[in-house]
Amino acid sequence: MPKIEDIQLNIIKDSKGEDTLKAVMTTENISACSSIPKGKSRGEKEAAVVSIEKVLMNFEKIKPKILNQSFNCLFDFDNFLIDLDQTKNKQNLGGNLTLVLSQTFARFLSLYKQKELWQTLEEEFFILNPALEKTLTFSPPLFFFNLLNGGKHAPYGPYIQEYLIIPQTNSPQKSLSLAIEFLQNLKIYIIQNYSQCNFGDEGGVLIPSNDYEEPLKIFKEIKSKMNSEIEISFGLDVAASSFYHKEEETYHLAPSRTLSSQELLETYLDLNKKYNLFSLEDPFEENDFESFKNLKQKIGERTLIIGDDLTVTNSQILNQAAQNDAISGIIIKPTQIGTITETLQTIGLAHRKGIKAIISHRSAETTDDFIADLAIATRAYGLKSGSPQNPERVVKYKRVISILNNK
Ligand code: PGA
Ligand code: ZN
Repeated sequence: MPKIEDIQLNIIKDSKGEDTLKAVMTTENISACSSIPKGKSRGEKEAAVVSIEKVLMNFEKIKPKILNQSFNCLFDFDNFLIDLDQTKNKQNLGGNLTLVLSQTFARFLSLYKQKELWQTLEEEFFILNPALEKTLTFSPPLFFFNLLNGGKHAPYGPYIQEYLIIPQTNSPQKSLSLAIEFLQNLKIYIIQNYSQCNFGDEGGVLIPSNDYEEPLKIFKEIKSKMNSEIEISFGLDVAASSFYHKEEETYHLAPSRTLSSQELLETYLDLNKKYNLFSLEDPFEENDFESFKNLKQKIGERTLIIGDDLTVTNSQILNQAAQNDAISGIIIKPTQIGTITETLQTIGLAHRKGIKAIISHRSAETTDDFIADLAIATRAYGLKSGSPQNPERVVKYKRVISILNNK
C-alpha cells in the first residue's frame, strides 16, 4: 500500500446550507475525496457529532499520525482511528471526523487498486464476514422513496416523518422512473388541492394538515389513477421518538391525539388494514423493544418492522433487537456508527440474523454517492435516499443504476 502523502479537510455546505466535512487524500497519482451527511432526527445512541471547530483541531492532531502509518486495508485504517478515539461512541474525535476519513480512505484504496468502490467494499465486507460469501445471492436493492415529509423534516404537516413509496420491481431504472411519475402526480394533486407545493428536507412534498392519515389517502388515490403494472407499496418512517413524551409515556401523534403505546399499536393495525403497509420504521420510541416485538408479532409476516433510531447501525444493539425479536429490517447509516468497517460488520450481522438491511441517506445530504456502492457491495435489501426531487438524493439512485448497467 502506498502511504497517504497528504490529507486535506474542507468545510462544504450540505443540502440544508449548513457546514459539513469533505476530506481529500492524495499521493502523487491518487486523489480520493468524499463528504458526509448529517441527521436531524438522531438516535440517542448514535456516534457523537462534534463541532466543526473541534473537528478541525482534532484533525490537526491526528493527521501526522495517519501520515506516518501505512495501512493494508480499510479494517486497519478504521481500527487505527477507533484506537485513537478510545470511546464507545467516538466522543473524542467525533464520529463525523472518523467517518469522513474512513469513507475517504475506502475511496483511496479503490483508486490504488484500480477497482470500483463497490468492489473494494465488497472485498472488505467478505473479509469481515467470510461465511456470507457462499450464502448471499445478489439482487438489486429495492428503492424506498420518501415523497411526503413531516415531523422534524418539515416546517408544517403531519407528525409522522416520512411517507414512502416502494415500487416492487427488481429493475432500479423502472423503480426510479415510476417514483418520478408518482411525484409528478403528487405535485399536481398538492397544487390543485392546496394551491402551492413546498418541499421538506428530503425533497418530499409538504401538506398543510396535521392529519397523519391524509398522505396515505392521497397516495392511494394517485396509485389507483396511475394503474401501474408494477405494484407500488407504501411505507412509513414514523420516527416515533420525535413525538414521544418521556414523562407521560405517551405519543403526541397529532395536536389533539395523545396515545399510549397500545393505542398507537392499534392505530398502526388500522392503517395497515387500509393501506397494506409494506414497511414501518421506528413505530415506537427508541428504547421500547417490547412494543416493536408486539407489533412484529401482529403484522410482521407481511410488513417489515424496521429499526433506525432503535438500532443506530450498532451491532451490539442490533444483537439485542434480534434477541428480542423486535425487527425484521434495519436502517444502515454510516454516520450513526462512525466508520465503514463497523458499518460492514453491522450489515454482516443483519444478514446472519435474517434481518433485511436498508442503506440510508440522512436528511442533510451532499452529492456524494458512497452509500450506493455500499448497498451493492453488501447485497443490501434496500436503498433509501429520499425523493427524486433533489439532486443530492437522485445521485445515489442513479449510481446504483449505473453500477448495475456496467457490472
Ligand atoms: P435524519 O432522518 O437523517 O434526519 O436522522 C432520517 C431517518 O430518520 O430515517
Ligand atoms: Zn428513520
